[in-house]
Amino acid sequence: MTNRIYGAAISDDELIERAKEARLAAHAPYSKFEVGAALLVADGRVFTGCNIENSTYSLTMCAERVAVFKAVSEGAREFLKIAIAADHERPTPPCGCCRQMIWEFADDETVVILANLSGDVQKFKIKDLFPNAFDASFLQGVR
Ligand code: THU
Repeated sequence: MTNRIYGAAISDDELIERAKEARLAAHAPYSKFEVGAALLVADGRVFTGCNIENSTYSLTMCAERVAVFKAVSEGAREFLKIAIAADHERPTPPCGCCRQMIWEFADDETVVILANLSGDVQKFKIKDLFPNAFDASFLQGVR
């Protein structure tokens, strides 16, 4: 645990705003479902992402994983909180793949913040959104 700032650098509301801004770059001509994400890591940096669809459909990448890839490729390894913004009546939760990817760099305190454009906000701990996860602990002491 190095340089961990426990989320002091940016408020939840500011992180939501960053996710909404990131959403503006979404490339979602097929589904029209535009998503933005903003990820705060332990040293205070924020990495954003939007969903990037593809004409093959199956190569589409979610906003959350774009933010995760950007963070990890820049050396981040401790995720504090991630905000996700989409324009839906129900604040949009991360898909299963994204939960798995977030979990890899999360701990029991890591928070997932869901927001829509009407001001509705929901907050969860990733451990509650993704219980009984497969993770690195299963790879220790393999028999
Ligand atoms: N999508 C995300 O980016 N994040 C989510 O949490 C749910 C789904 C994207 C993928 C695709 O471009 C579109 O939303 C519809 O599934």
